[in-house]
Amino acid sequence: MDPLENIDGDRFDTVFPVPVMDRAVRALEGGKVLFFPRLAFALRADERAFLDPRCSDGRAKNVSYDPSSGALKGTGLVGGERDRLQAMVARFAQSARALVATLLPTYERQLRMGRTSYRPVEVQARPSSYRKDDSRLHVDAFPSRPNQGERILRVFSNVNPDGRGRIWRLGEPFEVCAQRFLPTLRRPFPGQRWLLRATGLTAGYRSDYDHYMLALHDAMKGDDYYQRHCRQCEVSFPAATTWMVFTDQVSHAAMAGQYLFEQTFHVPVQCLQSVPSAPLAVLERLLGRALAARSSQEALQKRSIRAS
Ligand code: SIN
Ligand code: FE
Repeated sequence: MDPLENIDGDRFDTVFPVPVMDRAVRALEGGKVLFFPRLAFALRADERAFLDPRCSDGRAKNVSYDPSSGALKGTGLVGGERDRLQAMVARFAQSARALVATLLPTYERQLRMGRTSYRPVEVQARPSSYRKDDSRLHVDAFPSRPNQGERILRVFSNVNPDGRGRIWRLGEPFEVCAQRFLPTLRRPFPGQRWLLRATGLTAGYRSDYDHYMLALHDAMKGDDYYQRHCRQCEVSFPAATTWMVFTDQVSHAAMAGQYLFEQTFHVPVQCLQSVPSAPLAVLERLLGRALAARSSQEALQKRSIRAS
């Protein structure tokens, strides 16, 4: 199977024909990466100064922006420069939102916008512990942000000015990864959720779904043999292109590249055209039990309706 599904269009607010929208949803939920070979996030002349790793504060690997509060983190820039950097990242957030709204209208009503990031630092140069090392194949799951099964949809644009691609590896389908690692993962122990929330280690309720996703993320990254020998392919996303993927489902690793934008969206499972392909449904099927309370799913859904 070709891991990429090409979608034509050279504007973030392109009006897509209905058959293209259907093809996009099917491919995305089926575990493909939607690739937009002609869709560039073009920097304005005054934004080109930000093609510089010094935009980052040197501690955080990414400049991060919260579209709901307007807060910008991870940069050492101050004053007018900081305002202009913020405006550039906000402009990417709006572009990514427009793309999702026009291509995936069935998600649009209930999705919640997550963080935006700008990654001006070379991938290979990042020092990390293995859990933080995104050059190891993984599915996305974040210790401090439990999501009870809600999907993680990400839009990326490579803005490298020297024509360098963003090199990724793509691994096995989610169900194959899950089947391989589930027997090795420890079960959540009673009281863990309460403890995590009481100690402020998680921003919300860590469901059994979150426990297993995080354990899967760590087990994949921690297995050197698996990293080298599992079925995988390398993909280069050229400069001046855009791609979109459910990173909680698609096993991925970033191997090289510099200057990337990324926008995260949270999509409630109920919005999907094919619920059985969602990691929550796959894990529940394999383990034979519910992993997230319906009430927490509904609470997340209410939050996303309020935010839209
Ligand atoms: C990741 O999502 O794991 C990293 C993607 C990238 O920075 O290219
Ligand atoms: Fe990732």
